[in-house]
Amino acid sequence: MKKHIFKPGECMAWRNRVIPSSDDDQMSGHTFGGGWTEDKLDCLGKYLAEYRKIFVKNERARYFKTWYVDAFAGTGSRSVPDPSTHVEPLFDGDYEDPESQRYRDGSAIIALGLESPFDKYLFIEKSKVRLNELKGEIRKRYSELLGRCEFSSEDANKALRDWSARRDWEKEHAVVFLDPYGMQVEWETLTTLAATKAIDLWYLFPLGIGVARLLTRDGIIDEDWQKRLDLVFGTNEWRNRFYETRIKSSLFGNEETMVRAAGEEKIQEYIEERLGTCFAKVAKGLVLRNSRSSPLYLLCFAAANERSAHTALKIAQWILGHSKGTRR
Ligand SMILES: C[S@@+](CC[C@H](N)C(=O)[O-])C[C@H]1O[C@@H](n2cnc3c(N)ncnc32)[C@H](O)[C@@H]1O
Repeated sequence: MKKHIFKPGECMAWRNRVIPSSDDDQMSGHTFGGGWTEDKLDCLGKYLAEYRKIFVKNERARYFKTWYVDAFAGTGSRSVPDPSTHVEPLFDGDYEDPESQRYRDGSAIIALGLESPFDKYLFIEKSKVRLNELKGEIRKRYSELLGRCEFSSEDANKALRDWSARRDWEKEHAVVFLDPYGMQVEWETLTTLAATKAIDLWYLFPLGIGVARLLTRDGIIDEDWQKRLDLVFGTNEWRNRFYETRIKSSLFGNEETMVRAAGEEKIQEYIEERLGTCFAKVAKGLVLRNSRSSPLYLLCFAAANERSAHTALKIAQWILGHSKGTRR
């Protein structure tokens, strides 16, 4: 049988009984995602272009300094298998042909390549190796923008909270992109971003690769996973939303059992409802699926600024609605 190599984009929870993690931190060269990655980056890129147009055209908006923050920035590029040169291995076993990889721009490079760039950029990437690769890529391709860029190799949650506390939100606006592999984003980080009332958020929520996999049918969930779900949702109320209590009669009397009552739609509904408790407006997200149509992530959008949220949502919802929603 062919051995499966777990790629960073996949959840390792069921394999190794650990919380979904990133964590091939020492690796350089960055392979992740599938067709759904194109959709995700396409939505982000389109939104960033429209966002910057507003700040260029609208005289009142021009007053604000704009930030693009990529909190799980990666290396700036990613390798994807090239179908035209990819050769199936003759023998079983791990096989990765470097010649059959081609490189595509990641979120950081897309954000720097806009016709009208942002005034400031913050790239957060926990892996120092990747962060250095990203710096090199920017130096090579957008050296003229290097002076606008700040870099952090801290955990995204901490770096975002610190950055947000240092800003003057009367004069600054931002788009923040959260693109984790798994369940790294803490609820408190989201409420901090929402409280600025100046941030538009794109969040790749780990719907299928994280949350749905942790919600066992019988409600018996490892304690660490329960804690992680609490951190992601900012409450333990998910238990009541995702589980029902049933009474089962047996020879020994009635017995209470827990049954999962949450599919993909319920989880989506819940995270969007949660975002709605702190952001001014929340779009209906786009479910990103793998080639077998299984949900991997939910691409969410939320706007914190009451005054601009209506326009922001209209643009984001249009982009999400017109995305191919690929099932490759
Ligand atoms: C899906 S990749 C990001 C891809 C990138 N947005 C792009 O389009 O090229 C996720 C990245 O987050 C980094 N990462 C994982 N945990 C992190 C954390 N807690 N804080 C910051 N970065 C983290 C990983 O090293 C990895 O490079």
